[in-house]
Amino acid sequence: MNKQEIEALRKTDLSHQIHPQFHVRDHENAVIFVRGEGALLWDAEGKEYIDGLSCLWNVAVGHGRKELAEVAAQQMGELAFSNSYVGFANVPAIELAERLISLVYDDMQAVFFCNSGSEAVEGALKIARFYWHLRERPEKTTIIARREAYHGGTLGATAVTGLPPFHEGFGPLLEGFARAETCYPYRCGHCAGADDCTLACADDIERAILRAGPDTVAAVIGEPMHGAGGVIPPTPGYWPRVREICDRHDVLLIADEVITGFGRTGRWFALEHWDVQPDIMAVAKAITSAYVPLAGFIVSRRIHEAMLSSPPDAKFMHGYTNAGHPTACAVALRNLQIIEDEGLVQRAAELGDRLRRGLDQLAVLPCVGDVRGLGLIAAVELTEDRATKAPFDPAQKVGPRVMKEMRERGVITRVKGDSILLAPPLMTSETQIDRIVNTVGESIKAVLGS
Ligand SMILES: Cc1ncc(COP(=O)(O)O)c(C=O)c1O
Repeated sequence: MNKQEIEALRKTDLSHQIHPQFHVRDHENAVIFVRGEGALLWDAEGKEYIDGLSCLWNVAVGHGRKELAEVAAQQMGELAFSNSYVGFANVPAIELAERLISLVYDDMQAVFFCNSGSEAVEGALKIARFYWHLRERPEKTTIIARREAYHGGTLGATAVTGLPPFHEGFGPLLEGFARAETCYPYRCGHCAGADDCTLACADDIERAILRAGPDTVAAVIGEPMHGAGGVIPPTPGYWPRVREICDRHDVLLIADEVITGFGRTGRWFALEHWDVQPDIMAVAKAITSAYVPLAGFIVSRRIHEAMLSSPPDAKFMHGYTNAGHPTACAVALRNLQIIEDEGLVQRAAELGDRLRRGLDQLAVLPCVGDVRGLGLIAAVELTEDRATKAPFDPAQKVGPRVMKEMRERGVITRVKGDSILLAPPLMTSETQIDRIVNTVGESIKAVLGS
């Protein structure tokens, strides 16, 4: 494409498309992608990039997988779509449900399909309340969510999101939600981090339950490790303690595994790291590696049994036209097969070690405050003063400037404040991982000096 054609496309885009998390000033000179192969992307000008965030923690098996295009074409040729409302089913959705249940935590029993992570979270919140309704405890409705959480863009998901910019201009937020602290070892107000974690942050969830009154609380929701909130793995004792608190107060635990599911952290699902089982989980993104949209929430045996034994008038009146979309489910089945056949879960663990070892070397730079991650998802948090951990003045826009330098050097990523977030496809090569690390270092130096 020549420069004039690209400029014309940009102009039309600005005239007619509202983008996610949009402000027109942030969308000048948008990169227009035209091709992807493996961990690489190319824009309309022919410039090559490493996809350092798997296009939003999404394209796990990498770009350009012909077998996923073929399976979609074959399914579309046979049965592109049929609805899955009660009384109807299709073969790929049935097979995928069985496959998912064989992959997820032992205690999980049944899946509800939808189209996006936000819808999966929304459904998880609704099924939590519905479960207590079935159990004849309709007063148990409050959902406890955590600071730094990102759970999506719908109103329920926004209410459980703990990042204030996502609330601005959308108030009042829905009622029936309460907030607790999270586990952020580098910036913990209680203790200094993993080595001496007292789990006071987990106990804050108990305080939130007690403030609301345990008889009114339906569930606690959390990402096993925060993603968009800054890629923040918790200390090892955190989730076991939260599980124990939930059990003690008869409160359900919802795991939002929209980013962490399907291998990203070096296990199929992230709570496996701490041997914790949720009652409900939300999955999306890597379930199809984003070749087509698909998501779902999955419930435990006791919730499924409560649904199966409910009286005929206690219907779960929740649904989406495209739930259980046969083409999306066929692609998911093939995608999961690729993850298994190519050992990508183990590979995420190994590549993640390499990525973090590389990023650890950047600690020689005085502005690198924290390097963290789990499997193939990592963050580098920059600080103005390592001793006090003082953040840079937001007006300096240090994080966004580093991100721009990285883009110019051919690595696409995202930042949260001054944390640089990384999550390349699970099949990224060692050389590409090293290139990402070098680019992070060069870009930080370009912005802040060495
Ligand atoms: C943990 C988590 N939950 C939910 C969502 C929402 O997913 P979607 O953007 O597909 O609606 C996201 C999106 O990044 C996410 O990171």
